[in-house]
Amino acid sequence: MAQISAVVLVVMTTLTQQQGTGEEIAPQNMNLTQAQEMFKQTYKELDLNHDLLVDLREFMEPYLKHDHDNNMAVTLAEFLQQAPAEENQEILTSDFRFHDQNHDDVISVPEMQSQFSNIDTDENKEITEAEFIAYGTKLFTEKSHPSFQQPPVGK
Ligand SMILES: *[C@@H]1O[C@H](CO)[C@@H](O)[C@H](O)[C@H]1NC(C)=O
Repeated sequence: MAQISAVVLVVMTTLTQQQGTGEEIAPQNMNLTQAQEMFKQTYKELDLNHDLLVDLREFMEPYLKHDHDNNMAVTLAEFLQQAPAEENQEILTSDFRFHDQNHDDVISVPEMQSQFSNIDTDENKEITEAEFIAYGTKLFTEKSHPSFQQPPVGK
């Protein structure tokens, strides 16, 4: 679980919480400061060569490491293998769907590029920490990532 993506990070935090292995707070219970701290940490993990910039290659790595057949696309089935336990399926699936924009159960390179471009607001092909935190803050305040939404009542 060491290396996590922008998004998968959110999932992993929740999984850790569910497994009771740490003091982690579930993303839906975080305040803004805690969410930004989490995104800062994720950014560090994305920046593999520690040059304080994240390029497309680095950005795609946390997805492509689940691409077991090396076809430059991650299927839902491949993605679920990272934490096969039954109780993890729902949260991983909802995170996957967040990235799978056309809902064909595959996260493709164009979809990763599209998300990259969304975050890279000055369009210089590098994501800075400030751009990444700004994106994370937006996900948090708009609750546009499923991990920041409260689970349905009764769960
Ligand atoms: C967020 O929560 C932490 C931990 O409970 C607390 O220390 C911090 O003051 C809170 N920040 C805000 C802005 O509410």
